[in-house]
Amino acid sequence: MAKRIDAKNVDIYYGAFHAVQDVSLTVEPRTVTAFIGPSGCGKSTFLRTLNRMHEVIPGAHVKGSVTLDGTDLYAPGVDPVAVRRMVGMVFQRPNPFPSMSIFDNVASGLRLNGVKNKGVLSDAVERSLTAANLWNEVKDRLGRAGMGLSGGQQQRLCIARAIAVEPQVLLMDEPCSALDPISTLAIEDLINELKEQYTVVIVTHNMQQAARVSDRTAFFNLAAQGKPGRLIEVGATETIFSNPTEKATEDYITGRFG
Ligand SMILES: Nc1ncnc2c1ncn2[C@@H]1O[C@H](COP(=O)(O)OP(=O)(O)O)[C@@H](O)[C@H]1O
Ligand SMILES: [Mg+2]
Repeated sequence: MAKRIDAKNVDIYYGAFHAVQDVSLTVEPRTVTAFIGPSGCGKSTFLRTLNRMHEVIPGAHVKGSVTLDGTDLYAPGVDPVAVRRMVGMVFQRPNPFPSMSIFDNVASGLRLNGVKNKGVLSDAVERSLTAANLWNEVKDRLGRAGMGLSGGQQQRLCIARAIAVEPQVLLMDEPCSALDPISTLAIEDLINELKEQYTVVIVTHNMQQAARVSDRTAFFNLAAQGKPGRLIEVGATETIFSNPTEKATEDYITGRFG
């Protein structure tokens, strides 16, 4: 299921503002790649171009190419909705659909895809909640509101919702930043399990987290506020944290700025 992402010479704009400049990056299947870098360097912006979420903002556009196992996500005729089904996303704040039960949250993507069969939906809900390490906590109250769960459970619910449609890639934008340390560890364990099946990309502000969960790390930086963000270097997480090539990377990971 997991697929390889190849971004080539990607430039990203908000109207006239050039937010990200010339990023080329490969993300290997069944790995976790962390995006790190100071606030405003374009990590979220770049992440959103990997599933065509960027373009929903008026005036926003992208140049360059992004391919998934060789298929160009930006080719004419490609349906962005289909792209978002293949490349799922989990956000900073857990965002269960407020009026929906736990079951309906997880089933929502499949229902949108036209699945109506109760047995199929129940199986998918159980499988996704199990994969998200949430099944045992919620199996007796699937009909209750998703919003009634704790923050950490809500985030695992959102992960279950994202994987229910069997995406090939899972993008996570600071998925733990609103969570307590215990829930954070639960999500980190989960990410470690998910990479057996998925290609995972995680944006994180937390360097220890990047070191704990990722196989590869990409460091982004910007020359000054208002200048475009750029990819400074990418490599094995161990190397980036112990022996980076670029001085800016070293300064950032040792806490000299950002
Ligand atoms: N919706 C938007 N409209 C205009 N500019 C934006 C928007 N979102 C982000 N930006 C700008 O793009 C740059 C990169 O932002 P972002 O991708 O959020 O950075 P990061 O996630 O690394 O903190 C920043 O200068 C930010 O202000
Ligand atoms: Mg961000």
